[in-house]
Amino acid sequence: MIDLSTKLGSLELQNPVLLASGVWDFPYTKIIDFKRLGGVICKGVSPFPKEGNPPPRITETHCGLINSIGLENKGFDYFECEILPELKKLGTKIFVNIFGESIEEFKEIASKIKEVAGVEVNISCPNVSKGGEKFGKDPKMVFSITKAVCGETDLPVIVKLSPSVENIEETAQAAKEGGAMAVTASNTFPGLVIDLESKRPLFKRITGGLSGPAIKPLALYNVYRIKNAVDIPIIGSGGISDYKDVLEYFIAGASAVQLGSIIFNNPLAPIEILDNLICWLGEKGYKNLKDVNKK
Ligand code: SIN
Repeated sequence: MIDLSTKLGSLELQNPVLLASGVWDFPYTKIIDFKRLGGVICKGVSPFPKEGNPPPRITETHCGLINSIGLENKGFDYFECEILPELKKLGTKIFVNIFGESIEEFKEIASKIKEVAGVEVNISCPNVSKGGEKFGKDPKMVFSITKAVCGETDLPVIVKLSPSVENIEETAQAAKEGGAMAVTASNTFPGLVIDLESKRPLFKRITGGLSGPAIKPLALYNVYRIKNAVDIPIIGSGGISDYKDVLEYFIAGASAVQLGSIIFNNPLAPIEILDNLICWLGEKGYKNLKDVNKK
């Protein structure tokens, strides 16, 4: 029996494979056995409903996806009545991705999230004019928001970092000092798509957030940098396609990973990755995932 369990601070996960915020919805329960996952992060919730950006909102690129959703959601009241009860039926650990346009809004939403495994603080969305990566690029704001959120909840707090910074070690350190239990490294990278018909940027907000295999080496490097500078558990996120990518993230310093765009290509990827991880560990003679990093 191979043990895939991993720890994020004091939180034990049965395995390191989490589904990222915004890439899955309840119809996936027909394809994926959610009970096998380490956990899921739900689409971002704000205190009030948010319309999101005008279409088009998503397009494919070579080796990736670029989106400009703009954090559309129906707000906390809808989340509490309609989504949370369904999340609780999934049989896996639930992390709620939260965001606000001010520290006050972050406090408000953080104080309302209950009965889940943790919250993921989104200060890194590149697709909004207020909040998002504007907050996440400023270590002082990262510290203040993290501290404010931690002051409102007893749940473990994960801070989803922006890759659009010179020193991701600095923002990771700020999250740690603010009281974060872990950081997610990292969100999508800002990028541009030109529409050849109009000869203008495809998205109304000009840029979108690039995800998928194109960004894997960049996000992996962010994990490596944080691991070597800050003593905080890291959830690796960016371009994971198969079990080898998971192992790379693990060896670079992640304790868990989030699967994102791959879900659109291959909805069975999470389960295939878990099965292949077990096979690889068995072939190499490892009894558990943690042994991979033992010298
Ligand atoms: C979006 O809603 O625009 C994507 C979410 C994110 O980048 O955090």
